[in-house]
Amino acid sequence: MRFNPRLLASARHIVVFTGAGVSAESGIATFRDKLTGLWERFDPAELASAEGFRRDPALIWGWYEMRRAGIAQAQPNPAHLAIAELAQRVPKLTLVTQNVDDLHERAGSADVLHLHGQLDAARCFDCARPAGAVLELPEGAGDGKRIEPPLCSACGGPLRPGVVWFGENLPEQALSQAFLAAADCDLLLSIGTSGVVQPAAMIPGVALEAGARVVHINPQVTGAGHAREFALAGKAGELLPQLLREAFG
Ligand code: OAD
Repeated sequence: MRFNPRLLASARHIVVFTGAGVSAESGIATFRDKLTGLWERFDPAELASAEGFRRDPALIWGWYEMRRAGIAQAQPNPAHLAIAELAQRVPKLTLVTQNVDDLHERAGSADVLHLHGQLDAARCFDCARPAGAVLELPEGAGDGKRIEPPLCSACGGPLRPGVVWFGENLPEQALSQAFLAAADCDLLLSIGTSGVVQPAAMIPGVALEAGARVVHINPQVTGAGHAREFALAGKAGELLPQLLREAFG
């Protein structure tokens, strides 16, 4: 059955659940894209771990600084903008993202629940004290090189990026708010996520079980196995503005 875009206009509470695919059209690589340069022979899961950082802090910090430089250069795309606009048009919208960039915020979305942390929120690897202000990017960070992490002003330990690494817990408050919203919503849009990293990947299922409709937007269509589940095959930056036009235009 085809998804009726008008359901966006009549929804009481929409949850928008995003992954790396929503930022792909801003030029940010997704996690399943192959790495290049210094990091070519690594799997992202090896780089995104405390063990990886302990083994070689400059390699890992350099990788994240390169990603931060890429994000600083990037602009929100029509998908980020459509999500921010949708929030203005419906009674309630909860935006839950697995992304560590700030493109949703820069598109105008407020109160974004960042399940996997935020790149800008560096903290001490040893004592967990936040770095405070957003760190200035070092010269040439975008070129992709090893960079020694700055040191914590309190204990002298190395700073680490404010993201959730494999094997670590997700931020408790954001996670519980996300699950509560999923259980409460009547429509969930799952956009640009491969749905393989737990526990975030459970969120669409929670909404479905609670009676909501679930719409997946992804060029690689995943099966829509439930009567209330829909798969729209295509790019978020094209499909979302089109859906909004059809729902409200
Ligand atoms: P993935 O890289 O696993 O998946 C990105 C998804 O976006 C894929 O299913 C693509 O088909 C889809 N995609 C690509 N271009 C798109 C476009 N223009 N529009 C819509 N969809 C598009 O990214 P995530 O699902 O976000 O975790 O990955 C989940 C987590 O795994 C990440 O948050 C990260 C990673 O390891 C941590 O860092 C803890």
